[in-house]
Amino acid sequence: VDSLKKNPSFKGRKGPVVLCIMDGVGFGKYEEGDAVLGAKTPVLDDITKNNPSVRLKAHGKAVGLPSDDDMGNSEVGHNAMGCGRVFSQGAKLVQNSIDTGAMFTGGTWKKLVANAISNKAALHFIGLLSDGNVHSHINHLKSMIEQAKKDGVSMVRVHALLDGRDVGETSALDYFDPFEAFLNDLNDDSFDAAIASGGGRMKITMDRYNADWSMVELGWKTHVLGEGELFTSAHEAIVDLRERSGAIDQDLPPFVIADNEGNPLGPVSDGDSVIFFNFRGDRSIEISKAFTEGESFHEFDRVKVPAVEYAGMMEYDGDLHIPAQYLVNPPEISRTMSEYLVATGIKQYSISETQKFGHVTYFFNGNKTGKFSEELETYVEIPSDNVPFENKPAMKCKEITDNLLEAISSGNYPFIKLNFPNGDMVGHTGVYSAVVESMEAMDRQIGRIREAVEKAGGILILTADHGNADDMYEHDKKTGAVIHNAKGTPKAKTSHSLNPVPCVIYDPDYAGDYDKELVEGLGISSLAATCINLLGYVAPDDYDKSIITLK
Ligand code: 3PG
Ligand code: CO
Repeated sequence: VDSLKKNPSFKGRKGPVVLCIMDGVGFGKYEEGDAVLGAKTPVLDDITKNNPSVRLKAHGKAVGLPSDDDMGNSEVGHNAMGCGRVFSQGAKLVQNSIDTGAMFTGGTWKKLVANAISNKAALHFIGLLSDGNVHSHINHLKSMIEQAKKDGVSMVRVHALLDGRDVGETSALDYFDPFEAFLNDLNDDSFDAAIASGGGRMKITMDRYNADWSMVELGWKTHVLGEGELFTSAHEAIVDLRERSGAIDQDLPPFVIADNEGNPLGPVSDGDSVIFFNFRGDRSIEISKAFTEGESFHEFDRVKVPAVEYAGMMEYDGDLHIPAQYLVNPPEISRTMSEYLVATGIKQYSISETQKFGHVTYFFNGNKTGKFSEELETYVEIPSDNVPFENKPAMKCKEITDNLLEAISSGNYPFIKLNFPNGDMVGHTGVYSAVVESMEAMDRQIGRIREAVEKAGGILILTADHGNADDMYEHDKKTGAVIHNAKGTPKAKTSHSLNPVPCVIYDPDYAGDYDKELVEGLGISSLAATCINLLGYVAPDDYDKSIITLK
């Protein structure tokens, strides 16, 4: 890309522009269950009250999702912020590919189907079974299974992960029961489809950013080696394991389905074909590596590596080309903000803890893991603890800030970005009191950042990628009333919200060079042009409109 043009009327500030992404912190629609509102956040309150601030759209079409009923998520949110424009995202691209039939006439589908047929082997589907539309959609899976039957595949085995994180926290049977019935309806003398294994998405298979490979190992044992507790059906496994473990869906222990002889019904074996049907990349990369890497794989002992044709729903990493085979082309995200900054010679610093590290790097840069420039870009990852975050709601926000303050005061980095995972990662646990605590911990750190930015003569932008912490109880869609459990307590909501997010510009050296009234009605994709403007440059023509109006 070309370098950015200096803006003659606004030269920027002495200190850095700091983009602070408070993951999962939106403006709640309901007072009850809004942990952002419920927390004591004196710093956020004060900054918001006394500085230019506006709400930004962070869900649905504003971030490239199929409809405005789709909540935002970190992938599409960080893509939008980092790329300055809205691209049709995985959820939409996969649905289009199915609707037009392109998926099924494509080379990868045909190859996997032909492989299963010629080997008289199974076609496996592994992925998240829900309609969350963040990582996957159950309708995509159903369409593929129907097509597999039409195309002559005789055996399908599904390895289904329970969600409860992008959908209701104990909603698994709402998906599994009709799905098992759907498979039974399809089955006949020539076609045999069944669920072969499963487990909670936060227990097996779907780790991200190398946080905890033992999850992937447990998934491998479950889906591939057929090792684990045996059950006669997924329904029975879920009911039984829930009762014994008390776990909510995302944390349910793994299970293996047995055939009539008591052997695993469908471990992945030589000659089979395997489709990982999640479209989102972060939690799909590790399991894809386990299936496709040769001797160089050292993350865990796979015991045996079946010779299979493996494809992902999408290419999950556009830099490292993981996996080599995939069904749908990912969004063609190009000319990201980071790329422009590098072309302009502007040094950048990016930091978060493991759970969100890839969000401010890989997602922000349009799903590329590599840097555009080693010299100009600094990435810092603070290792996340592998603990239930409701027990440690502050997470690493202090450690992130300790490092960040050094970066701010060093004077080395005109553009700094960070992600505080608290609102989102603690929000996903569904534990309201813990989310309140997480917001209060984050607020204290924002106070430290504010001070450092003031000292450096920089600008702090406070914003978020989507809502979550702002909406911790299930509400009746029609009446808005809180839904209660049998125990009479509010039913926890673990998923993201459809709410708008804040955008506050704290600019202590403000010199009247732009309107204090921020532009209303924009989405988070406008943050890229805004950051570029605040750095003193003209944003690329086709970037979505800046939130500030320069004078
Ligand atoms: C997850 O992967 O944890 C959730 O499905 C989505 O959360 P994120 O979009 O905030 O990462
Ligand atoms: Co989230």
